[in-house]
Amino acid sequence: MSEKKVSEAILYRRSVRVFDEKKDIDPVIVKRCIQQGALAPNSSNLQLWEFYHITDTEIIKKISTACFNQPAAKTAKQFVIPVVRKDLWKKRITSNVDFIKSEYEKSNNKDPKKIKSAISYYQKILPKIYGVGNLGGWLNSVATHVKGIKKVVYRQVKKSDMRVVAHKSTALAAQNFLVSMAGFGYDTCTMEGFDSLRVKKLLGLPKTAQISMIIGCGIRTPQGVYGPRFRVPFEEVYFHK
Ligand SMILES: Cc1cc2nc3c(=O)[nH]c(=O)nc-3n(C[C@H](O)[C@H](O)[C@H](O)COP(=O)(O)O)c2cc1C
Repeated sequence: MSEKKVSEAILYRRSVRVFDEKKDIDPVIVKRCIQQGALAPNSSNLQLWEFYHITDTEIIKKISTACFNQPAAKTAKQFVIPVVRKDLWKKRITSNVDFIKSEYEKSNNKDPKKIKSAISYYQKILPKIYGVGNLGGWLNSVATHVKGIKKVVYRQVKKSDMRVVAHKSTALAAQNFLVSMAGFGYDTCTMEGFDSLRVKKLLGLPKTAQISMIIGCGIRTPQGVYGPRFRVPFEEVYFHK
């Protein structure tokens, strides 16, 4: 299967609302696109995400119902659901520290200062940010504000800020996935119109997990692309200083 260039894939990608009933997509290729998704840049490389790839027809039907049976869900051949797992931060810190240590062991050019500062970032700084402390991080936030009067500080320290951070990274992975799918001539529709509680139950997710979006996948029908692409004039959103 030949792949499109990145710029071609970006242009090819549209939100497809009606997928071709007669055309199946290969779950192996979809899985590969998810793997490419997981190569996205992400905050502190904590990879606070999971990807649920749904190919089982019974589960597909249930997910479609939870998406109000909107056309992109009802006609989807498979679903990919990127899930934000901010709650896994401690586990991911351990994975990063283990990786840093094993790379250090392998290295011929060992610099103890460098590894110490990398490990301290994961073991001292990140727990302060992700642990947030009392009152959903508001105390941290006030302390940061006071410190910030005189010096440059990292201000995103509230629980809600960290939620945004985790969602940003997962959305970047989702975008990598969408473009990868377009690269293979596969189509997608990103959806946030769904009952998150029902979908979480269906996937067996804990309360602490959050669904970033649900992505319907298949092959486009001509009527599945609802008209030409609309974007506000680029000059309205582009600022060059
Ligand atoms: C986070 C997000 C949620 C979306 N939710 C829906 C949705 O529930 N249903 C739908 O048909 N399209 C949904 N869309 C698709 C947008 O409407 C679409 O991306 C936009 O109109 C631009 O069109 P394009 O993707 O073809 O360029 C969503 C897109 C994003 C990024």
